[in-house]
Amino acid sequence: MEPSATLAVVAKAKALKGQGKPVISFGAGEPDFDSPPGALRYAEKAIREGQTHYTQSNGLPELREAVASYYSSRFGLDYSPNQIIVGAGAKPLIYEALASLVDPGDEVLVFSPAWVSYVEQIRLFDGKDVIVDTTGTDCIPDPEMIARAITPRTVGMLLNTPNNPTGAVYNESTLRKIAALAIKHDLWIIFDEIYERLVYGEHEHRNIVSLVPEVMDRTIQINGVSKAYAMTGWRIGYALAPKWLAPKVGAVQGHLTSNACSIAQWASLGALKESEADVVRMRQEFSRRRDIMTGLLRKMPHISFPEPQGAFYVFINVRNTLGGSHGERAINTDGDFCEALLETEYVAAVPGSAFLAPGYVRLGYANSEEEIREGMERLQRFLEGVSLRSDM
Ligand SMILES: Cc1ncc(COP(=O)(O)O)c(C=O)c1O
Repeated sequence: MEPSATLAVVAKAKALKGQGKPVISFGAGEPDFDSPPGALRYAEKAIREGQTHYTQSNGLPELREAVASYYSSRFGLDYSPNQIIVGAGAKPLIYEALASLVDPGDEVLVFSPAWVSYVEQIRLFDGKDVIVDTTGTDCIPDPEMIARAITPRTVGMLLNTPNNPTGAVYNESTLRKIAALAIKHDLWIIFDEIYERLVYGEHEHRNIVSLVPEVMDRTIQINGVSKAYAMTGWRIGYALAPKWLAPKVGAVQGHLTSNACSIAQWASLGALKESEADVVRMRQEFSRRRDIMTGLLRKMPHISFPEPQGAFYVFINVRNTLGGSHGERAINTDGDFCEALLETEYVAAVPGSAFLAPGYVRLGYANSEEEIREGMERLQRFLEGVSLRSDM
């Protein structure tokens, strides 16, 4: 198993910062805002009132009710609280979903570039990840390529929109075609929409179950408070599962962790009930930063990128620089690119290889405007200092 490359970059950047270097990190996958006041108030109250015991293993009934009513008002979907499992972040819920669905040798489709943990988690159950590349199709999966990747061993697929690391937001027609494939080939879908509140410009997040209700019985939706509410450290996510499957996912969690932290669950209830205005404010700020970062990136040599429509990442193609060098440093891989950038300009970014996309680099824009401007200036200087293979 490969360690998480995003966490590795953050650790190296922190170590350099500890040595007093002026590091700017675009490596993190989390908002830089404080958690909303509504969440803090609920958490403080929960502590004072002694809500410090085990809760129901699947999560507080009040929180599961709030998630159900969120899905009802946002997506028009009717889930009962007993179809909802609250866990310690979206990540373990994806693991628990896979645990209840994947048998050894089962094939699971993953659309690359993809978030680091999908493939590693599938392999933990001796499943086989089957990768469908989207870099040639604007980072949107091509239904015909998906159809070609399906075999008699295929049991399901992991979908992530808005996407980490590309920022792509899957359009309605693609989602409808994917849903039709899932029905035709009897596949389940894990629909990871953890970034659903972070979509910009004229783009719109579409929920696959509200588009095609027939897939409700074969879809596990994954969401949580981490990204939309700037609550990554509280570790609360939720899964919404079909009636037949929810008890199985819940059983895995029951044996693995029991309930997620009781105080964090109360904080998440506060977020869902009282923090809508904060979500909107943070989204607007991300949108502004996206425009600043992409505007500056467009002027830089040697790189290109798909226009990010959601989440808070820009996924830049650095293939033109591979085979070249920066000063004494050879740049043969995206990892070399990131290392040279960190060591010369103290700018941290994540190699695309960590997302099954060698030749790319992920830059997050969950940073202040000042940091984004300074970091982009350094990146531009770095790129101007790259000697391409063709120059050598
Ligand atoms: C696509 C995707 N899914 C799930 C997660 C996990 O979220 P959480 O922090 O709630 O576990 C992340 C976090 O980076 C992510 O990028």
